[in-house]
Amino acid sequence: MTNDQPAPSQIDTRLPHSARMYDYWLGGSSNFAADRALGQAFEQAIPSIRTMAMENRRFLGRAVRYMAGEAGIRQFLDIGTGVPAAGDTHSVTGIVAPDSRVVCVDNDPIVQAHAEFHAETLTDGDGRGRTVYLQADLRRPEEILRSPALTGTLDLEQPVGLLLVAMLMLVSDREDPWAAVATLLDALPAGSHVAITHPSQDFDPEAMADVVRAAEQGRMTLVPRDRSQVERFFGDWELIEPGMVPVMGWRPEGEPPKDPNAAYYWAGVARKKA
Ligand SMILES: C[S@@+](CC[C@H](N)C(=O)[O-])C[C@H]1O[C@@H](n2cnc3c(N)ncnc32)[C@H](O)[C@@H]1O
Repeated sequence: MTNDQPAPSQIDTRLPHSARMYDYWLGGSSNFAADRALGQAFEQAIPSIRTMAMENRRFLGRAVRYMAGEAGIRQFLDIGTGVPAAGDTHSVTGIVAPDSRVVCVDNDPIVQAHAEFHAETLTDGDGRGRTVYLQADLRRPEEILRSPALTGTLDLEQPVGLLLVAMLMLVSDREDPWAAVATLLDALPAGSHVAITHPSQDFDPEAMADVVRAAEQGRMTLVPRDRSQVERFFGDWELIEPGMVPVMGWRPEGEPPKDPNAAYYWAGVARKKA
């Protein structure tokens, strides 16, 4: 799949896809010319976009470590999981809580192709931990919740860590991502946690407007949202400290960032109350 090798037939390489652009920014090889072209157009508007992608991955790691550590969670549902790469949910749980069960969901065929290729290694050898992949769409949350991949892996009577990292901006307002997220939150028991990051115009409105224009030209949906719109995704769940903050400022490990506003994403983790 490296560079412009022939792709499996269901993968349309003519149009840019967010999973492959993200892979490009993270230095991966599962991307094609159209992905790199739009990735570079985004980079012109926001030169630090690669750092922002990496900051999202770092947040994902911190959020999973928090959920597995302090919150004691052993079941994860990662929607918009992306192309497998260092620091993804499965690799973090493999280190901090190898007995975890993880369901990774994405709607991009290239992510499915990777999951099929790595199917053997996704199942933990000790028989307790397990990672499964589900090809499905956030916009149809009931299908995710009803799927045998999910019901056969997660016990929805026990707390779940739901991850929606750098993916909700790919669903338009018209498609009502708030309703989809609410359906998922309603299905999870008390003690569950949700981690969300979302790009926002609140940090640099002009740069974000340029990115949206580039996305439109590439025929990609990209909807930055302001603070209150992002907060609505958490519903009535309780945001844990420090609340919803710029992604680099969420429980940084080591030295605090010099400028937490340098990555234009809101981030937070919330807990479902009893
Ligand atoms: C920017 S990547 C983020 C990857 C990963 N969450 C991370 O933070 O490293 C967004 C991912 O969401 C997926 N995605 C976009 N829309 C989706 C939808 N409606 N349902 C499921 N996945 C979706 C894309 O295919 C892509 O893999």
